[in-house]
Amino acid sequence: MTRDEFREALLGVMEQKQHWAWASFTNGTVAKALLHVHLEQEYAVFVRDFPVLVGRAYVQCPIPFVRRELAENLYEEETGGLHAGRPHPELFLEYPKGLGFELSRFEAVTLLPGAKLYRGLLDETTQSRGWSVAAAVVTLFIEGTPHERSLFDAAAPARPEPALTEHPLVKHYGLPIESLALTKAHRGVEGEHRKAAWRVMLDHVPEAEHVNVIGSMEQVLAAWLVYRDDVAQACGLAPSA
Ligand SMILES: [Fe+2]
Repeated sequence: MTRDEFREALLGVMEQKQHWAWASFTNGTVAKALLHVHLEQEYAVFVRDFPVLVGRAYVQCPIPFVRRELAENLYEEETGGLHAGRPHPELFLEYPKGLGFELSRFEAVTLLPGAKLYRGLLDETTQSRGWSVAAAVVTLFIEGTPHERSLFDAAAPARPEPALTEHPLVKHYGLPIESLALTKAHRGVEGEHRKAAWRVMLDHVPEAEHVNVIGSMEQVLAAWLVYRDDVAQACGLAPSA
C-alpha cells in the first residue's frame, strides 16, 4: 500500500473511534453515583499501565529515531518530567479524588467482561506483533481521537477544546478546576505527540507491515467498542432504539 493509502486506512479506523454513549458522559446524563465505574475501568484498562504499553513498542523497535520518539513519550507519561510535573497515571487519579470517590477502589478494579477482552487484546498487540503494531495501537489508537484528520486537513473538524470551566467533570459533576491537571498537561503536549505518532507511522513503518498494522487497528477498534458498551451499560445507559 502506498504511504497515502496507509494514512487513509489509519484515518478511517480512527474516525470510527466514536461510541454512542460518549455524549452521555459529557452532558451530565450519567449519574454521579455511577461515574466511578467509567473512571475505574479506564484507569485499569489502559491509564495505569500506559507508560508500560509505550515501553513495549520501544523495546521491540530497531529504528533509533522511532525509539527516541517513544522514549520521550514514555518518560513524560511515566514521570511527567518534561511537562506535567507528575506521572500521568497519578494525575488521572486527581479526577476521582476531586469528585470525592473512594480511591482505594482504584487499587483493585474488577474489569468488566468487555474491558478484560479489550485489555487482553492490548497486551497481545503490544507484545506479540512487532513494534509497528505496538506503536500504532498505543500512540495512534489509544492516545488518538476521531479528529486525527485535522492534523493533515485544515478543513477537517479539530478536536473540541472547551475552556476548563466547561469541562464536563467540572460543569456537571462539580470537579474543582485544580483537579484537571492531567487535562491541562495533555493539552500542552498533545499536538506534539499526535504529530510524532503520525511521523513514526507514515515515515518508518515498513510497507510489508501496513496490512498487519491496519488489521490490528481494526481488531482493537472492535474490542474498544464492546468495552465501551459494557461501561455504558454499567453506568446505566442503553442505546436508544
Ligand atoms: Fe498522558
